[in-house]
Amino acid sequence: MVTIAIDGRKVKAKEHSTILENTQELNIDIPTLCFHKNLSPFGACRLCTVEVKTNGRWQLAASCTTPVEDGMEIRTNSDKARESRKIAAELLYYRYPTTEAVREIARKLGLEVPEQKDEGHDCILCGLCVRACREIVGVSALAFQDRGLGRDIDEAKIEFNPNSCIGCGSCAYVCPTGYVRMESIGDKRIIWNKVFTMVACSVCGRYFAPEDQLKYISRQTNVPFERLTVCTDCR
Ligand code: SF4
Ligand code: FES
Repeated sequence: MVTIAIDGRKVKAKEHSTILENTQELNIDIPTLCFHKNLSPFGACRLCTVEVKTNGRWQLAASCTTPVEDGMEIRTNSDKARESRKIAAELLYYRYPTTEAVREIARKLGLEVPEQKDEGHDCILCGLCVRACREIVGVSALAFQDRGLGRDIDEAKIEFNPNSCIGCGSCAYVCPTGYVRMESIGDKRIIWNKVFTMVACSVCGRYFAPEDQLKYISRQTNVPFERLTVCTDCR
C-alpha cells in the first residue's frame, strides 16, 4: 500500500492502482468517456484530468492512466483541472457536435449545447470496442487503422476483420455513441455489416447466440457444441 492525498484527504491506496480507481472508491465524480472498469485504460479522451504533485511540481494528468505513487498529492477539482477537462470536452464537441454522449459531457462540463434535430452516432475513437474485443472476448476482430507516424488523427478509424469476428456484440454493448450497430432480424444478427446465423435455444426456442460464437466457445473450452445450445434462462 502507498499513502496519497486526494483533495487534502490522506488515503491508503493499492500499489499500481490508478488515481481514478482511488477517486472512484471515494465517490468523487470525475468525468470519463474512454474508461471502462473491466478494460485496460487508454487515455484517449482526457476528460478525467486531475492535478498531480510529483517532485514538488503540480502537473495535469489523466487520472485513468496515471498510477499512484507514495506521497502523491492529487487535486480533483482545481481550476486548472476543471479548465483542462472543459477544453477536452470542447475539442470533442467541436469534432462530434451531434453525438449525444459527447453533448452530454459537454453540457455537464459547462458548455452551451443548443438543441439539435438529428442525433449523430460518430465514432469518437475511444477504443472501448477494440479493447473489449481483445481483452474480454479474446478474438481481436477490431483494431485501430491508420495510426502510423505522420498520419493525421482524422484518418484514424476502427478496422473490422470479418474473419475473426464471432458476432458476440460486445463492441456494440460497450460503444458509448451508438456507432456500432447491431440488428436482429429473425434468425440473423447483423453487425459491422456481417450477417451471423443465430442458434435457437433447444429448450425455449429463442434465438440467443450466434452460431460462430458458440463454436468459438466450444473450441476454447472443449465443451461439445450441442451442450452449449441452451440459453442462460433455461439452464
Ligand atoms: S466504435 Fe464506439 S466503442 Fe469503438 S472506438 Fe468508436 S466510439 Fe469507441
Ligand atoms: S477517461 Fe481518462 S482519458 Fe478518457
